[in-house]
Amino acid sequence: MIRIFVLSGPNLNLLGAREPDVYGSTTLNDIEVMVTSAAAELLADVGFFQSNHEGALIDALQQAVGHYDAVVINPGAFTHYSYAIRDAVAAIEIPVIEIHLSNISAREQFRQHSVIAPACVGQIAGFGPEAYVLGVAAAVKTVEASR
Ligand code: DQA
Repeated sequence: MIRIFVLSGPNLNLLGAREPDVYGSTTLNDIEVMVTSAAAELLADVGFFQSNHEGALIDALQQAVGHYDAVVINPGAFTHYSYAIRDAVAAIEIPVIEIHLSNISAREQFRQHSVIAPACVGQIAGFGPEAYVLGVAAAVKTVEASR
C-alpha cells in the first residue's frame, strides 16, 4: 500500500461555508470521503490533517517522513508567503504535490505566485475539490515511478 498524507492549511476547515462562489459548497469532510474512496481504487492509504497554524503544518510535514510515501498539500494562503513551509517541503525526502481548489493563476496578483511550488514535484490548481483527488493520483504515480 502506498501511503499518502493530505494536508490542508488555514481556513480550509471552513470549506462549504467559506466564499462558496470561489470554493464551492463541498466541505473538507466531503473531500476526505471522496479522496479516501479514490485512493482505495489506486491501492493507496490516505491520512488527513488540517491546521490554521504554520508551525503545525511544518510539524506535520516533518513527521510524515517514515509514516508516509508522499504528501499532498493545499497550503491555503501560506502558499504565497511561507518560506518556512517551503523549507520544510525542501527538507523532507518524500515527494510533495501542491494543490489548490481555485486556479490561483487566474486570481488576484498576490495569489498568482507560490513560494512553495518550486520545492514540490508539481502543482494542480483550478479543478475544485477534484484537485485533491488528482493530487493523490499524482502522488501515487510519483511514488510508483520512484520504485
Ligand atoms: C487556495 C488558494 C489560496 O490563495 C487561498 O488563500 C486559500 C485556498 C485554494 O485552494 O484555491 O485558502 O489554496
